[in-house]
Amino acid sequence: MGLADCVSVISLIASTLALENGLLLTPPMGWLAWERFRCNVDCDRDPENCISEQLFMDMADRLVEDGWKELGYVYVNMDDCWMARDRDTQGKLVADPGRFPRGIKALADYIHTRGLKLGIYADLGQRTCAGYPGTTLDKVEQDAATFAEWGVDMLKLDGCHSSLEEQALGYVRMSEALQATGHRIAYSCSWPAYRGGLPPEVDYTLMKKICNMWRNYNDIEDSWGRVVKIVDWYSDNQDVLQPLAGPGHWNDPDMVVIGNFALSIEESKSHMALWAIFAAPILMSNDLRDLSQDSRLILQNKMLIRINQDPLGIQGRRILKDSTMIDVYMRPLAQSAKALVFFSRRVDRPILYTSSLLKLNFASNRAYQTEDVYSGEILRGRKADANFTLLIVPSGVVVWYVIPMV
Ligand code: GLA
Repeated sequence: MGLADCVSVISLIASTLALENGLLLTPPMGWLAWERFRCNVDCDRDPENCISEQLFMDMADRLVEDGWKELGYVYVNMDDCWMARDRDTQGKLVADPGRFPRGIKALADYIHTRGLKLGIYADLGQRTCAGYPGTTLDKVEQDAATFAEWGVDMLKLDGCHSSLEEQALGYVRMSEALQATGHRIAYSCSWPAYRGGLPPEVDYTLMKKICNMWRNYNDIEDSWGRVVKIVDWYSDNQDVLQPLAGPGHWNDPDMVVIGNFALSIEESKSHMALWAIFAAPILMSNDLRDLSQDSRLILQNKMLIRINQDPLGIQGRRILKDSTMIDVYMRPLAQSAKALVFFSRRVDRPILYTSSLLKLNFASNRAYQTEDVYSGEILRGRKADANFTLLIVPSGVVVWYVIPMV
């Protein structure tokens, strides 16, 4: 049997199995190192910010002590550059001994004692994107067993330095290997992002069966332009992407970069609101030791978290895009509630935007309660056909949580 045949047989087998690990029934929330801390391995000159056990322990402490954990932010996720330059003599992955002197098992134990979960990073291929040891096909089972032995709770499997065939075999094989460990390890796959993110190159029927979440598109950076590019790509391709999301299987538009250097307060509010609408993982990549009060309030907004974590797990859609440059998004929620986001694409001046719930496809014979998620303002008895006018600032949002009144 040739490699191509092998690939299709494995895909066929996988497509008859569902990923039944019971994990990520709502999008994961927590913290992920990459966007903010990258591959900073210079612990001599920059001990506070280098990729080391101390960094992850610091973030775990902040999650617990600053009110994040009780809001659902429980993952502490490592990314590239945690490894030693080589595997050990048994071919096992090992953490860099200088930066992780007690090893990953000890770090996982610490994270677990604090009531949190640890995520780890590996790359299917010859080496990771930053050049550390990769997980080649012959290493998949061994690495899955190592992660399980260490008590890791989530794996992000990146896809640098691997061929299409290796990816087609390896992502499925890792899913099976993780299941076979008997440990509950959530599985985040970067495969689609390496294949353009869309069918026919990406087989999303298969993705749903083997992964709990997947990166579809390019990396986020600390830049509003990059956030908008991601928002546009997900919105422009929503007919393909939106139906994929659901409990246990999510699209991942990448980390949340609120609290860093580039985003204004209004842009940060928009970023958080749109990730809530997208049913996206909220994995913050920022420095929790040094966060402004504005950023904290946005990231800890209970209504937005409630929208993001809605148990139905239906991803929202852009329902209106027109010459006003106010894009409207809607996400259906449990108990007939809906979230609405009015997002200004304008970069010049605030806009007065007039609409009605009827125009946004709400049933005409009802009255609704609307809650402005950022200001907290509640209005009861709003008739579907009654016009309302909102002030929406440049690159900003107004977010409503809407429930029908009985
Ligand atoms: C890729 C991924 C990023 C990050 C880096 C690490 O670019 O998409 O999220 O994991 O690799 O090197």
